[in-house]
Amino acid sequence: MRDSLLITGASQLLTLRGSGARRGSSLSNLGIIKDGALLVRDGVIEDIGTRAEMESLPEARPAEKLDVGGRVVLPGFVDSHTHLIHAASRAEEYELKIEGASYEEIARKGGGILNSVKKLRGATSAALKERALRALKQFAAHGTTTLEAKSGYGLEVASELKILGLHKELNAVQPLEIVSTFLGAHVVPTEYRGKADGAERYIKLLSESLMPRIGEARLAEFCDVFCDRGAFTIEQAKRILQAGRQWGMSPRLHAEQLRRTGAAQLAVQLKAASCDHLEQVNKRDIQALGKSETVATMLPGCDFHLGLERYAPARALIDAGAIVALATDYNPGTSPTVSMPMILSLACTQLRMTPAEAIAAATINAAYALRREKTIGSLEVGKQADLAVFEVADYREIPYYFGVNHCWMTVKRGRVIHAAEQKPI
Ligand code: NIG
Ligand code: FE
Repeated sequence: MRDSLLITGASQLLTLRGSGARRGSSLSNLGIIKDGALLVRDGVIEDIGTRAEMESLPEARPAEKLDVGGRVVLPGFVDSHTHLIHAASRAEEYELKIEGASYEEIARKGGGILNSVKKLRGATSAALKERALRALKQFAAHGTTTLEAKSGYGLEVASELKILGLHKELNAVQPLEIVSTFLGAHVVPTEYRGKADGAERYIKLLSESLMPRIGEARLAEFCDVFCDRGAFTIEQAKRILQAGRQWGMSPRLHAEQLRRTGAAQLAVQLKAASCDHLEQVNKRDIQALGKSETVATMLPGCDFHLGLERYAPARALIDAGAIVALATDYNPGTSPTVSMPMILSLACTQLRMTPAEAIAAATINAAYALRREKTIGSLEVGKQADLAVFEVADYREIPYYFGVNHCWMTVKRGRVIHAAEQKPI
């Protein structure tokens, strides 16, 4: 394989170039180059501009050529919130929800997250890996090039380590980049429930038995807590995240999904990388996020799948100046999708974001949420050549067409990792 690649034929090349995270009106600036081209060397963007500019470079002459035929090119999606490793779907609960049971009612009866925990504990590493590999292929097929993955369906030492170990293993055997997050504090597992000090004993297990092993083996970059009704309190979340920090894990939070707890403001106070969900935020939370560096990540796939009416207040967050991001929250309970294009469609119709805002939220701002803004999230000289090519004439058609995958090609570090076999209709 030659080490340099010239990509031409982008009718619109969405660079997302420019300094800093996108806030307010800068979210709409996609830095589009018409008839764009990129020169890639060793997986990194060496130069970017119009086709004429790139073709005139002497370095472009010996490069391998890839003409994308007038399609739209953008940075690969950065999916900054997934629960990648799980053993099975929860289709039976989906049906119960349609019949009227709420997410929390199902959880109280031992369903929900605890249902997935039971399934994961009974699954072999090989089966989990096989399922994750299939999902990762699908992520790539929808234009995602980097994703965050959380543990949290193990909730015991061996099973949590099994999940985090798999994140590491998967990074070595397939092309997508997986950013590992420890979510031991997803819920209190069954064996610690029903006793007055159960939650405290479980938190002790997390901070004294699990975190040292995760920290020493560097199995996770971030620590997350599901801070909500039926999960962990603000005070517990704070202690868990502080303990995580001691072991080298930066905080991020599941915040204000089912009930407002104050978790968004805790995230700001702890300078968390992100706080995610945000359906229940109030005006003060929005103001606090607007002034902070903590990325406000919205997960409209959850509200859609659960059939809820209340989505995160994207417009108010954008008006307040928050760094908004979008992610799938791929998980078996609330958002079983790997499709960032579908999330963009939901962002447009349900969150009232424009296609340009949604794309910025799913690329450069999401890279900030993973503290990867120096290497991914935009197409600029020195960054990784991670890109998605869509079979559309205009970038606005990416969210406009929904339910059909228009991703034509995905490139990770300059290597084609997905190529569509047929044109969508
Ligand atoms: O992000 N809210 C907590 N965690 C997941 C749901 C996990 C599950 O139901 O299995 C979420 O929505
Ligand atoms: Fe989640």
